[in-house]
Amino acid sequence: MKHFSSGEIAGFLARPDAKKLLAAAALTPDEFAYANGPPLWLEGGRLKRRIVRDGRPASSFLAPGIGLFVVGTEKIIGLVRDVVVASLSVRAGAAEFGGVNPLTRRQREFIANWEMEGYRKHVAGITEGGELGGRIAVVTGAGSGLGRSIAVGLARAGADVALADLDLASAEKTGALIGKESPNTSCAAVRCDVTSEKQVEQAFARVLDRWGGLDILVNAAGIAPPYPLVDLPLDQWRRALAVNLTGYFLMARAAARIMVQQGMGGSIINVSSKSGLEASKSNTPYNATKAGEMHMARGWALELGEHGIRVNSVAPGNVFEGSKIWNREYIEACAKKHGIEPEEVIPHYVKMTALKREVKGRDVADAVVFLCSDRARTITGQTLVPDSGQVMVR
Ligand SMILES: NC(=O)c1ccc[n+]([C@@H]2O[C@H](COP(=O)([O-])OP(=O)(O)OC[C@H]3O[C@@H](n4cnc5c(N)ncnc54)[C@H](O)[C@@H]3O)[C@@H](O)[C@H]2O)c1
Repeated sequence: MKHFSSGEIAGFLARPDAKKLLAAAALTPDEFAYANGPPLWLEGGRLKRRIVRDGRPASSFLAPGIGLFVVGTEKIIGLVRDVVVASLSVRAGAAEFGGVNPLTRRQREFIANWEMEGYRKHVAGITEGGELGGRIAVVTGAGSGLGRSIAVGLARAGADVALADLDLASAEKTGALIGKESPNTSCAAVRCDVTSEKQVEQAFARVLDRWGGLDILVNAAGIAPPYPLVDLPLDQWRRALAVNLTGYFLMARAAARIMVQQGMGGSIINVSSKSGLEASKSNTPYNATKAGEMHMARGWALELGEHGIRVNSVAPGNVFEGSKIWNREYIEACAKKHGIEPEEVIPHYVKMTALKREVKGRDVADAVVFLCSDRARTITGQTLVPDSGQVMVR
């Protein structure tokens, strides 16, 4: 953060209508895109409430009698100051000529969704807070459970997220959650059956149309048909292979083609499971496909490493929160498998962990965000296990 004072700033601060003039939204696309709107009027200790009310982090603040504060990296502070000071001068001048005429909400929405502005921000280095700011991510299975938690986590870290799911309405609900929690990122629900080559191609075409690139793919759309071996129907086996293996492959192939062509690296994450490391009973297709996902990731890491594309897996423990896999039928099958009552299933699994701690969606999302971030720049072909210490990887 830097402080600025000048005759122009002091002159604006001294105006009796200064606060009122700042109430009008951004006047120009530059003010909106670079400075995130006009400065906040900083009076007393009410900054936090203002930011919450306005629903946006401020890039600049005007403090009566003190001057202008601009928040940002070294690279952009000067640019934001210039845009803000120009806006103060226009606001003061406009007041003498009938009033300020800001951008309409529609115009601001257009700019926010306009690829060019995103690109200009990217070039100027103004990527909103968070270590994944400016990155473009696709998450499959984003309409529920772990896919949803991961999409929310990536957006929280600043990424723009495409929410791919068979179930569009659920993906849209995830979008609404992100809109509330991370209003400075953009997201879009995309209907996509990951087992369909055509739909996968169409989903990526939409991502490129909207954001112009791709940095992250998280494969999370998965199913777990719970049958003992002797009862497992062939169609259930085939369906699990189609979603958990073919789906991961089709998505990764399409993502890798784009990432290689971009020449800017990238990160692919396969959401596997601890069942891929240690087999569980009555889980034949799940055991097979979850082990397969990790092994595919290792091979892809070898192939794509020279392009700076990292490929890793997470193998979460049992995550009950928000999961449709953990439906009544699945819980009953697990209870039967362990000879316990259905309501004992969750405590039973938690007891098996070293930490005696239930794993939540956010725990898995944090692991994924880390693997996608530059902090994991030398990590590829690996598996991270957020499971509270149930399966130890050697
Ligand atoms: N919940 C757990 O305990 C747990 C533990 C470890 C790993 N995982 C893995 O996490 C992933 C998500 O599991 P969850 O428990 O959140 O499941 P979930 O059923 O709650 O969510 C899966 C989502 O994938 C979508 N989906 C299913 N088939 C699809 C297809 N063909 N194309 C596109 N989308 C499709 C569903 O509509 C749903 O929104 C799975 O890969 C699972 O193996 C889950």
